[in-house]
Amino acid sequence: MFREDSAENHHKTEALQKSLQGKPADTSIAAVLKEFGDHITFSSSMGAEDQVIASLIASIDKNANIFTLDTGRLFQETYDLIERTRSRYGIEINIFFPNAIRVEKMVNKKGINLFYESIENRKQCCHVRKIEPLQRALRGKKAWITGLRREQSPTRTNLEVAEWDETNGLIKINPLIDWTEEDVWNYIRENNVPYNKLHDKGFKSIGCLPCTRAVKPGEDPRAGRWWWENQGHKECGLHKR
Ligand code: ADX
Ligand code: SF4
Repeated sequence: MFREDSAENHHKTEALQKSLQGKPADTSIAAVLKEFGDHITFSSSMGAEDQVIASLIASIDKNANIFTLDTGRLFQETYDLIERTRSRYGIEINIFFPNAIRVEKMVNKKGINLFYESIENRKQCCHVRKIEPLQRALRGKKAWITGLRREQSPTRTNLEVAEWDETNGLIKINPLIDWTEEDVWNYIRENNVPYNKLHDKGFKSIGCLPCTRAVKPGEDPRAGRWWWENQGHKECGLHKR
């Protein structure tokens, strides 16, 4: 455990925020990989932003810690992308699975597609399939890197490049915080970064198969996530603040 007292954590985060603010993503990533070494990990959903970060990390340190949470309900296209990314960049992507007994208990009690029944069920599924494995993936780390951008959602507009993640007790680094969707896709095209083939079929933000659908042109990019719930404030709990 590397948790230190709260004041010191906040002080450290603030210093980091000041030093990284406005810096190009590759500079920020290089700085935090150097500062935290084996105590930092990159959390990739294999989304477009995360593919940009993977490409930047691979150009700095191919041995950096990277993980993805396999909920057991991902698209085949996402699994294909995990493999394409590993071979393209020569990097390891550690896969974390949900606890099998907890999944069995949940689906046997509430049904395999429980998430459509209520928000409570949906949050329970996200907790079992994502949050608990995330907690395991972050154990022993001092910082994690994510692909969050301010533009993505009303819940993300006041994010900073470095934040103290109170829920998980470590620093969160968001190197693409100021990037627009266009910046992300320009980088992907210019650098021939592998991306999820579903993006060519109208998918924007991609999560689990039963909870993600394509969006229409001009529609909110996150409108295809948990589309049956109220729009605007949808989060699965990975980024609780
Ligand atoms: S979510 O909370 O709605 O699911 P979103 O898909 O926007 O999150 O992704 C935001 C960031 O959370 C990603 O850039 C990534 O860092 C992390 N993340 C989301 N899903 C996963 C996943 N399955 N595995 C690892 N990291 C993830
Ligand atoms: Fe379960 Fe859907 Fe959440 Fe995936 S996104 S963990 S299938 S509720």
